[in-house]
Amino acid sequence: MCGIVGYTGSAQAGPILLEGLKKLEYRGYDSAGIAVINNGEITLSKVTGRIDNLYEKTDGGRAAPGRAGIGHTRWATHGMPTDYNAHPHLSNDGRFAIVHNGIIENYALLREELIEKGYHFESETDTEVVVHLIEMYYNGDLKRAVIRTCGRLQGSYALGVACTDEPERLFAARESSPLIIGLGIGENFFASDVTALVSYTRNAIYMEDGEFAEITPDRVTVYDVTGSPVKKEVDRITWDIQAAEKGGYPHFMLKEIMEQPGAVKATLAPRIKDDEIVLDGQDFSAAELLDINKILITACGSAYYAGCAGRFAIEKLFRVPVSVELASELRYSDPIIDEHTLLIVISQSGETADTIAAMKECRSRGAKTLAIVNVVGSTVAKLADRTIYTWAGPEIAVATTKGYTTQLSVLYLFALYAARKTGRIEDGEYEHLLTTLKNLPKRLQESIDLSSRIPKLAKRYAHTRSIFFIGRNTDAAAALEGALKMKEISYIHAESYPAGELKHGTIALIEDHQPVIALCCNDSVMEKTMNNIIEVKARGADVLAVTFRKNDRILSLADEMIFVPKTDTVFAAIVEIIPLQLLAYYTAREKGCDIDKPKNLAKSVTVE
Ligand code: F6R
Repeated sequence: MCGIVGYTGSAQAGPILLEGLKKLEYRGYDSAGIAVINNGEITLSKVTGRIDNLYEKTDGGRAAPGRAGIGHTRWATHGMPTDYNAHPHLSNDGRFAIVHNGIIENYALLREELIEKGYHFESETDTEVVVHLIEMYYNGDLKRAVIRTCGRLQGSYALGVACTDEPERLFAARESSPLIIGLGIGENFFASDVTALVSYTRNAIYMEDGEFAEITPDRVTVYDVTGSPVKKEVDRITWDIQAAEKGGYPHFMLKEIMEQPGAVKATLAPRIKDDEIVLDGQDFSAAELLDINKILITACGSAYYAGCAGRFAIEKLFRVPVSVELASELRYSDPIIDEHTLLIVISQSGETADTIAAMKECRSRGAKTLAIVNVVGSTVAKLADRTIYTWAGPEIAVATTKGYTTQLSVLYLFALYAARKTGRIEDGEYEHLLTTLKNLPKRLQESIDLSSRIPKLAKRYAHTRSIFFIGRNTDAAAALEGALKMKEISYIHAESYPAGELKHGTIALIEDHQPVIALCCNDSVMEKTMNNIIEVKARGADVLAVTFRKNDRILSLADEMIFVPKTDTVFAAIVEIIPLQLLAYYTAREKGCDIDKPKNLAKSVTVE
């Protein structure tokens, strides 16, 4: 995820900015840069790749003279990871530099407007519109220009602004993206993350949405959106560096679980405009969609399970048969594919060897390809005819969480999009499902909020040798991912089973106190799953049911309950995965496992 830093004071800014960026490295990035103001000029240094390259290029920051500046680590979203897309971005007149975290959702319209007014763009980023807006609105009053610019922006941002006319004065603004001001003596700082501040100061002001700050070496003034000063508390940062990297959470995995509402929002919101779904310039025509007679989804691990869950939504709404194949199998299976097949390839990293090989195999047989990928410019994204990025930001824990839910949210989006474009959905149903989709981030947050009993429940599971996850339809798909999470981080054998299949074999393993997690979030098969709960209970199982609130009928059947918010059955799998991730997490924690780096596993499997 991108990171920003800013410094103004009596020391040379370059080395301080680089050190701040270095502290943000753990968040993942693909390019970095700094801009330092000196004698009415901005020295700009940007590199693709590691911050070490920036150290080399600027002699540790010493080659950029000046006592105020801003810096950035970029995780590519709009535009490839290149020097010209790296931040800071400069205005055409060279007087302003800005850094930005977040996504400017209305950047395409603003870009058009600015081009018409004669501004030229050096990058493909959404960010660059901000610096040209500042130049356009500047008439000697930088504060006013910042207010007017922020008033034009839709989306999320933490911004840092520097101007040659006012070499000591920086501005920083926040909307839905973290921003903290660090207070020193004769020097002040800002950053998107406390890790970049703690080596210099532990006195901090946490900015709220809609606020911006004017920062000089001796003073920090925070304003509201209209420019009126806001009185802010100064907080004491008590975290050590390691805790700060994890945002105060003990593990990246927990942090990433908690980030899911925001990640799904970042993935969906920019693609829903005026109640229509738009796919980032990756749109299909109705004719292209009508030409598809088969969809093949391929991926590995959790990405494959996202495909298993998304399949239900695509078949239900788009009415095209979908098969979901493990990439490691598909690549050697002599697949039956032609030009009417749409291949959907799902990968967080975009570098999974089997996924890439399966994709190449299917492409060579004529399939059209749509990739759902988190890493911009990765191999899968480059190979695909079309790519829809998941805006999950970097995932550091080896076990995926926000990667999975953002992948699933894109599959839902695609299902509804294709149904709408081909006229296979009634207007009323479309409107209902679009509203439900827009509300998914809220449902995910509620799911997190409803999970407070999980740490206690996990204590029981820590001592068990095996757990069954059962469910039907979308619940069966969520069970696959729930069991994988449990296996990989807690090392407890976990088996997911479509509930109706139990009596065809697996029920032989159910005996007294065997833990069974029954997923019951799909109304259309609720009665059936309830019967399966009765069957396993009759054989002595301890059943934990995951179901939506107020579904009291299950209460009398199960030993324990976890509630999730109700959503439409089509999208049920995404809300019920949250308690399963948390259960795996707390069980592993109870067992003292190395949660972020489970044994034998790698984050990106780039070999077969
Ligand atoms: C499980 C997990 C893996 C990945 C799989 C595919 O928690 O993270 O199963 O989902 O290795 O990786 P990507 O999505 O990078 O292709």
